Amino acid sequence: MAHCLRITGPTRLEGEVRASGSKNAALPMMAAVLLAEGPVVLAGAPQLADVDRMAQVLRELGVEVLWDEDDTLQMRVIDRRPVHARYKLVRRMRASFCVLGPLVARRGEAVVSLPGGCAIGQRPVDLHLAGLRALGARIALRHGYVVARADRLHGTTIDLAGPYGPTVTGTANVLSAAVLAEGQTTIEHAAVEPEIVELGNLLIAMGAKIEGLGTPTIRVDGVEQLAGATCRVIPDRIEAATLLLAGAITGGQVRVGGIVPDHLTAILDLLRQTGCRVDAGADAVTVRAEGRPRAVDVTAEPYPSVPTDVQAQWMALLSTAEGTSAVRDTVFPSRMAHVAELVRLGARIDQHDGGAVIRGIARLSGAVVTARDLRASAALVLAGLAAEGATTVRAARHLDRGYQRLDLKLAGLGARIERS
Ligand code: EPZ
Repeated sequence: MAHCLRITGPTRLEGEVRASGSKNAALPMMAAVLLAEGPVVLAGAPQLADVDRMAQVLRELGVEVLWDEDDTLQMRVIDRRPVHARYKLVRRMRASFCVLGPLVARRGEAVVSLPGGCAIGQRPVDLHLAGLRALGARIALRHGYVVARADRLHGTTIDLAGPYGPTVTGTANVLSAAVLAEGQTTIEHAAVEPEIVELGNLLIAMGAKIEGLGTPTIRVDGVEQLAGATCRVIPDRIEAATLLLAGAITGGQVRVGGIVPDHLTAILDLLRQTGCRVDAGADAVTVRAEGRPRAVDVTAEPYPSVPTDVQAQWMALLSTAEGTSAVRDTVFPSRMAHVAELVRLGARIDQHDGGAVIRGIARLSGAVVTARDLRASAALVLAGLAAEGATTVRAARHLDRGYQRLDLKLAGLGARIERS
């Protein structure tokens, strides 16, 4: 697929659009199939590069993965002998690391590549490993791989508190291992993100005994084995937020349907503070911009606050605000690769350690920019929609990792955007 997006602005987006299934829910839910004695079916799964990469990792781990219809993943284990997740695959999609917990719990062995870093930060996995060790896994690091073994995991109390708050995929890995451990496990300082609740709901549908999902303390009573199950993936709250911010930055009116507004509360409140009119229904939100946004300060924090995965998109919006805004990211303080590219589009952003100050301007100016990571690419697309003239977003493949044809969704709202 072409790797550049050409955008002509400014455009005013108007109309309705539906969000796809959540990438960050689907990925750990896919890994959970490794625990199941029967087939696992995920309805509403997003068609994304990252989902395809997780499917590739699972196929190499003896799982049959098929797409049924256009949004349903049919998965079942056909061979339990493989235990390797290769560096080539894991480095390209970090969330593959989520196969570690299920593999150790169900197969008693796992050889999973350390993911390595990425554009948004160092991305350590120390909390994942500490949690699995506490459950009784013997873990060694060899030649860039985590080598984990356990005859039978045993329940315990695990504290997942980290220097930057809870770990989402760390909670997924530990939870997915604890469900087959002998006895009770208590996970303290667990992530409360909706994607973890969704993973837990799938595990419960498979026969797991879990309480406290969505709270910082999750209690698990281990069971002997887990059956297959069918689950629907929750809508992607990050994509929904991105689409709403697209409406706001273009001075338009956009209705995003097929979503869970309760997953977006902090973002909707902040949008209202910028002066946008925001109406939330049962499964849809409509944003209507009233002129240029007012400047607001944004601090990205763990759920239920404004998520780090929307921080870059907020910076794009605030680049056009009336007034000066301060943006901080407490989860990934160095997640700032989009700043230099937004500056190329005319934004006035001064970066300092752990944050940035943005002095809004009336109109950005189109330019050639380069995406460095998934959410930075979304921010550059949003800025391009509002900028005067032509914007080319290079390395747009990042966008396809986490958004199901965002270009088509935006074009459906009136954006002049095409691949090249
Ligand atoms: C998940 O990544 C998401 N990915 C990320 O979304 C998201 O930005 C992040 O959670 C925070 O919400 C998936 O769910 C697949 P963390 P994850 O472990 O689990 C530190 C996107 O754009 N930490 O919650 O890897 C870590 O460095 C992606 O969709 C440790 O110190 O993030 C960070 O500062 C990007 N030790 C903080 O915790 C550990 O062992 C939160 O990281 C693990 C993490």
